[in-house]
Amino acid sequence: MKMIDGHTRTCGLIGNPVEHTLSPLIHNTLAKQLNHNLVYVPFHVEEGQVHQAVDGAFALNILGLNVTVPYKSQVMDSLVQIDDLAQKIGAVNTLVRCEKGYKGYNTDMPGLYRALASEKIKLEGQEVILLGAGGAARAVAFMCASKNVKRVYLLNRSVEKAKAVADEVNAKSGRECIYPMALENYNELPDQKFLAIQATSVGLHPNVEHAVIEDQAFYQRIHTGYDLIYKPRDTRFMQLVRENGGCAFHGLKMLLYQGIIAYELWNDVSVSESMAAQVYKALEERA
Ligand code: ATR
Repeated sequence: MKMIDGHTRTCGLIGNPVEHTLSPLIHNTLAKQLNHNLVYVPFHVEEGQVHQAVDGAFALNILGLNVTVPYKSQVMDSLVQIDDLAQKIGAVNTLVRCEKGYKGYNTDMPGLYRALASEKIKLEGQEVILLGAGGAARAVAFMCASKNVKRVYLLNRSVEKAKAVADEVNAKSGRECIYPMALENYNELPDQKFLAIQATSVGLHPNVEHAVIEDQAFYQRIHTGYDLIYKPRDTRFMQLVRENGGCAFHGLKMLLYQGIIAYELWNDVSVSESMAAQVYKALEERA
């Protein structure tokens, strides 16, 4: 970030709460590295004020916004355009200023894709186990379908929710690639090795001692485990994957890349991998 002056562009985050966000660290570090005259600030927005916040941001010439809990769906009513993937997922986390208002994107999922790619994990053609059927898992299921994953076994405690997500994703993507299952039936998975993506809230700080499945036998089927959780940096799920011979990753790079993709959209630049690595280092120190 340069010295704030009359030319400084503003980006920010709307949500509630926003006090613990790491996004200012990502964006202000990028602005500094790229020598952009840009600041990124968190805006705490009260329930019922999202529309005013977006209109106000436009009036104030704000270049772009991120959107976090609980407004990722609600904000969609305040936009002039919505990107296809975000529309399908039903959640927007990035607003990009255009002529008459903001266009909404979802950079969480492309962020996950780029994070996987940076670890040399390929989705195309893979057989995937996806744990969970909440908002995060639903988005991952859409991304898997759009990236031509061969098959996704969607395991959830409540099998009705797994079925609902599978039906929706299969219908909207025009591919029957999501197979819903009850979490307790993991023994019925085909006898082979999978990429597993952990998208439940189990293991999240402060309840760090649990994994959504504790049985070692389940982890024998996993060659690579990716946990969307990044707090803590080493989850019980990751430990179980490693104990059974697999490679395990946490979700901090997904956070990094969702931010980088938003920054790229706002500023029409592309962030190099060496720059991404520097931002990641800053994140690791703070997260
Ligand atoms: P998010 O938006 O982060 O995805 P969410 O929508 O609340 O959060 O979803 C939480 C996910 O974690 C769900 O898949 C939930 O399973 P249910 O749909 O059966 O509730 C899963 N989850 C949370 N606590 C769990 C637990 N103790 N055991 C198994 N699954 C759990």
